[in-house]
Amino acid sequence: MSHTCRIELDGKSYDFPTVEGTEHELAVDITTLRDRTGFITLDEGYGNTGSCTSDITYIDGDKGILRYRGIPIEQLAEKGSFVETAWLVIWGRLPTAEELQRFRNRLTANEMLHESLRNHFEGFPPNAHPMAILSAMINAMSCYEPEMMEIEDETTLERAAARIISKVRTVAAASYKMSIGQPLMYPHPEFSYCNNFLHMMFSLPYRDYVPDREITRALSLFLILHADHEQNCSTSTVRMVASSGANMFASCAAGVCALWGPLHGGANVAVVEMLEFINQSGMKVSDYVAKVKAKDSKLRLMGFGHRVYKNFDPRSKILKAAADKVLAKLHVQDPLLEIASELEDVALHDPYFVERKLYPNVDFYSGIILRALGIPLSMFTVMFAMGRMPGWIANWKEIHDNPKARLQRPRQIYTGNPIQDYVPIDQR
Ligand code: CMC
Repeated sequence: MSHTCRIELDGKSYDFPTVEGTEHELAVDITTLRDRTGFITLDEGYGNTGSCTSDITYIDGDKGILRYRGIPIEQLAEKGSFVETAWLVIWGRLPTAEELQRFRNRLTANEMLHESLRNHFEGFPPNAHPMAILSAMINAMSCYEPEMMEIEDETTLERAAARIISKVRTVAAASYKMSIGQPLMYPHPEFSYCNNFLHMMFSLPYRDYVPDREITRALSLFLILHADHEQNCSTSTVRMVASSGANMFASCAAGVCALWGPLHGGANVAVVEMLEFINQSGMKVSDYVAKVKAKDSKLRLMGFGHRVYKNFDPRSKILKAAADKVLAKLHVQDPLLEIASELEDVALHDPYFVERKLYPNVDFYSGIILRALGIPLSMFTVMFAMGRMPGWIANWKEIHDNPKARLQRPRQIYTGNPIQDYVPIDQR
């Protein structure tokens, strides 16, 4: 079906082309709007603005659909590994056995940090936030990889992607070890991506940590579910930075900073803090929900609501089932899981949440899984960043590979003072 768009402004009509995506999402292409009419569009929060076309991830927020490169998230969660998902997200198709092995080898080859990069950790205070360390270290990494600053072929791109994805894991674990005053553990070349991370987090020089298979699988699942999510705040940040021609390291470091906030990746911390508060205060779940609804503070039901999903976030369904399984397997009884279930039940039947289409999002249950794996709260958003790295790299690549990509530079409507004269300091 063809579509037409006619805008009438001050009595004059203007026609604009429309764009239709693979799954029939529709857009009006207003690229020429300002030149032709003198008007721009205003859309604070970008709820109605498509910043790009992209081949990476498809979301249908009303139906609760998420697909990476066309493959439903449920299938990847059941059958895929994180490393294979990372390759899929970045290169657009599932890797062959040979490609997967080559990428795994590159991850292994890049797992160590340059010794002088390790020294950077000494510069942070022991209580430094791991997200600050991660962002700083990704940028610092680029100083050791000058040949990766200009990527001109697919091999260099794969090497750069493997470096970031591999080293981010080492940096994440090292920042945790530093924060608790334990010696940094070297990665183990024989271990899988997830096992290696768990080893660097929990082994000690005199005692190896041997993860249960269920734990490794749960970690892989967590990372797969976070691998990409189209134009969210951090990915849009990565694309914005990439559009200036900035290298992959700088762009991903910016993504880490954008992810940090509690309305985005930091929500997984905020959810657990909220559940802990309810647990420790002994407050009834219904009273907490009433407080949220009263809107007398900035209180929100963390882990609920999403800009795009107006139905169940498919990731939260998968994570809830996984949380039940992991806790049962590990014989962990977490009171927070019970509170979360109760909260979900109350909210899903409450008109406030129903009318606003507020459903549990990915962060609602992910914290419960991370707790069961022994990951400390301070590391939750770092875990999200580790998972999201392939998505950021894929989005960076999309900009980098597009000869028509433009510097991203939104406009604004100025609402400040009209022109006024400078007043010398003795007359103010
Ligand atoms: N609890 C209570 N009320 C809410 C919530 C919530 N979690 N989320 C939205 N609302 C209300 C909001 O107060 C507003 O009500 P009203 O129409 O009366 O003013 C209405 O719902 C629409 O809210 P909005 O702020 O316009 O929605 P948004 O699309 O800008 O916000 C959101 C999306 C995710 C920032 C928001 O739902 C939120 O703050 N949720 C809690 C934080 C969270 O869980 N974030 C993780 C998001 S998923 C993972 C990720 O992106 O990293």
